[in-house]
Amino acid sequence: MLGSMKPTLSIVTGASRGLGRAVAEQLLARGHQLISIARRAPEGLASPQLQHWSTDLVDARPVAARLAAFLAEQGPQAYAAANLINNAGVVSQLAPLADLEADDLQQALRVGLEAPTLLTSAFLHATGDWQSVRKVVLVSSGLGRRAMAGSASYCAAKAGLDHLARAVALEEAGRSHGARIVSLAPGVIDTDMQLQLRSADPQRFAERARFVGLHSAGQLDSPQAAAAKLLAYLDRADFGSNPVADVRDA
Ligand SMILES: NC(=O)c1ccc[n+]([C@@H]2O[C@H](COP(=O)([O-])OP(=O)(O)OC[C@H]3O[C@@H](n4cnc5c(N)ncnc54)[C@H](OP(=O)(O)O)[C@@H]3O)[C@@H](O)[C@H]2O)c1
Repeated sequence: MLGSMKPTLSIVTGASRGLGRAVAEQLLARGHQLISIARRAPEGLASPQLQHWSTDLVDARPVAARLAAFLAEQGPQAYAAANLINNAGVVSQLAPLADLEADDLQQALRVGLEAPTLLTSAFLHATGDWQSVRKVVLVSSGLGRRAMAGSASYCAAKAGLDHLARAVALEEAGRSHGARIVSLAPGVIDTDMQLQLRSADPQRFAERARFVGLHSAGQLDSPQAAAAKLLAYLDRADFGSNPVADVRDA
């Protein structure tokens, strides 16, 4: 915070590694107050502006209640702006839906769709009377828009995020100082998730070769580059005018 200027609050899920960690690092560098939500703390990040809430998002109800209580306690005047970046996501085992365990599928859907829905609801409810700019990002994927065999639950969760954003955008458009929301595809990023796609069994996941090819052709963004693109999109004056977008949109 500079002088008497109010800080911006950003809440980032899945900030322990990959894209979320890079987003968290770049937001801290901008001087944001940051709440990280994941099972583990962001690797190698320490700052007085950072608080980590160790959470398994398979059951997001307690952390959604904690977020609502925290925001209510802060009050409408505390921050210049507030962002909720729902970034955490998981792919189930890469195989046809018919071959997967219920636990695995439930985890992918709960972390990928239920948790962002509950956290977004808590955020919007608790900040409904705030006059400051409020933005919600749902980190989606091209796979929410293009189906891929072997990752049905992931495709379903991401398509769900896209339609969640469309519906919430309509709701918020009807409110004074309504929040802005975008379900945003972040590009292809060199993280553990891509490693999981490249390491899958080709007998059960036919598209494995495509992900191996993208990697060997050097077509993956680093987490830092992808985070910079995501935050550039967050900064856009037209953020929220299209609730389903891609960081590569002009
Ligand atoms: N990588 C890509 O090419 C790509 C492409 C399109 C979209 N995306 C999307 O971008 C987002 C970030 O992906 P990434 O590649 O950075 O993934 P990643 O490296 O696998 O990181 C996933 C993050 O989600 C958190 N997470 C996973 N399960 C969790 C749970 N049960 N409870 C709480 N947190 C959990 C992890 O934290 P803990 O393990 O510490 O809990 C971690 O911080 C995801 O939504 C992904 O779908 C990625």
